[in-house]
Amino acid sequence: MDIDALLKEMTLDEKIDQLMQLAAFLFDGASHEGEITGPLSDLGIDSRTIHNSGSVLGGSGAKEIKNIQDAHLKTNRLNIPLLIMADIIHGYKTIFPHNLAISCAFDPKLVEETAAIAAKEAAVSGIHVTFAPMVDLVRDPRWGRVMESTGEDPYLNSELAKAFVKGFQGADIHSSKDSVAACVKHFAAYGAIEAGRDYNTVNMSNRELRELYLPGYKAALEEGALMVMTAFNTVDGKPCSGNKALMRHLLRDEWAFDGVVISDWGAIRELIPHGVAKDEKAAAALAIEAGVDIEMMTSTYVSHLKELLEEGAIEESRIDESVRRILTLKKTLGLFDNPYRFLDEQRAEEVIFSEEHRKVARRAAEDSIVLLENDGILPLSKKDSLALIGPFAESNDLLGPWSWIGDREDVETIKAGIEADDVKALVTQPIKDIHRITEEEINASVELAKASDKVILALGESSDMSGEGGSRSKIELPEAQLDLLKKVSEVNTQIIVVLINGRPLDLTRVVPYARAIVEAWFPGSCGGSAISHVLFGVKNPSAKLTMSFPDSVGQIPVYYNHHNTGRPYDDNNPHNRYVSKFIDGPNKPRYPFGYGLSYTTFEYEDLTLSSQVLTEQTTIDVSVTVKNTGTTPGEEIVQLYIRDHVGEVVRPLKELKAFKKIQLNPNEAKTVMFKVNEQMLRYTHSDLTDYTDPGDFSVFVGTSSEQTLEASFYYQLGSEEN
Ligand code: NOJ
Repeated sequence: MDIDALLKEMTLDEKIDQLMQLAAFLFDGASHEGEITGPLSDLGIDSRTIHNSGSVLGGSGAKEIKNIQDAHLKTNRLNIPLLIMADIIHGYKTIFPHNLAISCAFDPKLVEETAAIAAKEAAVSGIHVTFAPMVDLVRDPRWGRVMESTGEDPYLNSELAKAFVKGFQGADIHSSKDSVAACVKHFAAYGAIEAGRDYNTVNMSNRELRELYLPGYKAALEEGALMVMTAFNTVDGKPCSGNKALMRHLLRDEWAFDGVVISDWGAIRELIPHGVAKDEKAAAALAIEAGVDIEMMTSTYVSHLKELLEEGAIEESRIDESVRRILTLKKTLGLFDNPYRFLDEQRAEEVIFSEEHRKVARRAAEDSIVLLENDGILPLSKKDSLALIGPFAESNDLLGPWSWIGDREDVETIKAGIEADDVKALVTQPIKDIHRITEEEINASVELAKASDKVILALGESSDMSGEGGSRSKIELPEAQLDLLKKVSEVNTQIIVVLINGRPLDLTRVVPYARAIVEAWFPGSCGGSAISHVLFGVKNPSAKLTMSFPDSVGQIPVYYNHHNTGRPYDDNNPHNRYVSKFIDGPNKPRYPFGYGLSYTTFEYEDLTLSSQVLTEQTTIDVSVTVKNTGTTPGEEIVQLYIRDHVGEVVRPLKELKAFKKIQLNPNEAKTVMFKVNEQMLRYTHSDLTDYTDPGDFSVFVGTSSEQTLEASFYYQLGSEEN
């Protein structure tokens, strides 16, 4: 397909229609009805626009997508196929643990494997592009969308961003049958919205943006992600969908991204309430000038671009540029040769939700579960007399937000998982409503707890309490569940709390009553058996937190890679008033980044550096010996952090730079090796350039961001070591 020739043949209307994206249910051939939450009534969309628009959002299943494409091609004068895009965030039908959960496995290979399965199920169903990965760095658990992110660290974010893109796009997007194009989002810094209140303002320096928030997007693009989605928020006073500095100067000019940029849902029209455009026409002008190619779900482009052109406010080349990028993406995906791409109804039946895919979902869930507390009560014995109670005991709400194709009917519940593990003496008491627990349910739960040796209490948030629009100002468990926990603890203190949720929670009123706490997140389709495997020691938990759990909401934001302040708090002098601290609580989070327990114990010793001096040309080999000092085999995520002691701007106390997952049998010891080089030390200076300053550095290796061994070295300019 000759894109330039096609462009020449297109009328202006046809070009502008390519810049429009609408939801599947608005198209002929759709088999489901949808609901628009945004302002569609006054969109001015007519059937001409729909038949000729360039892309579709959503579409459930191969049949519907085929019908939509068929109907479209019948009426599209130039036979330009529709691009079919959808949110495939943590699985299509086989649902994996959500992104924050799976990030806790610290395992890019696992992320790639699950993304590849999601891509396979989506591609065979006719989807061409997924609105993923979401790589927004997050520090505020009040924000419901932290469940979609991979946490608070820029290095881990970048590593996992690459893994997602690799998994989605496969080795070669043009020919890989099981691939979909990746759309990295939300550009930029959506994760930094004030107070974690969704869609809120972002305020940060350009330097911080570059150092912490941009690396994830950049890594995804360097890995080849073909699209970018704008964020809803402002950056430096400008909403991203009309932010030329961000979208054109940075993304296009500086990073040389030549793929398609799409607005988030309705975000171009939202430039009006944001207060940077007085009407739709002005909004359209800002967005097209900023370089946003596709408008999702509002019609400022189709209604006003022509007029803007006639008035000379924009140039036609600007429209052509966007259309060319969209047509090029269609060509890259092979749509001009086959508009259905890899859609195959029969193969869909065979591969979707296959046993093989579910096995990976189970393994991914096991690898994502973080053991937060355990005084030795876990693992349980299958012979124990157990009560399984709480609102998540038999609940199938384990998929979490962004699992719209996943079917709750297919979910392995916790009860089903435990029963499948052949546990003999298990009694259960389901609770229907996670907020309103009835007196009968409490009494029945208490009676069961009284009659059992140990109690598994499955508590948490429902999936609608996180995800988009799921911000919370209090992040404790619902009051009724805390009350249940307390009442049960009055009759039986042998309590294991299993948590189902999408964000770090405030566990102040849980910890005192629990002998163990298992953070299972929304574990996905096969979550029940994964939880059971952890409870009974079939799986020794190994995951580590990628986002700190605060001690209280008042501490937020609280994250491991913070600065020191001029008056740092000193553990040895806790009563000094005039230091940076709270007078009514700790500075430290309850559980820090990198933290997670195992059923065995690991000892770290002999942190050794091959040299005390590093230059631009050399590397330092860092080695540490890790020993399994317990009685069960286990996996450990060995983490390497660095501190730059004196910088041109303040530096974090620790920054993750490398990690390795190792497996050790009881009494086995392994030497783990890392390499440190100059590139790992670079940071963004006040002139916005990245380089390394000479001086003293510490390297920390350990089991969490707070428990490490420390050694030091000096970075020296010039090539010769003295
Ligand atoms: C809004 C969300 O912010 C975005 O992440 C998603 O991809 C779009 N809606 C499309 O569903």
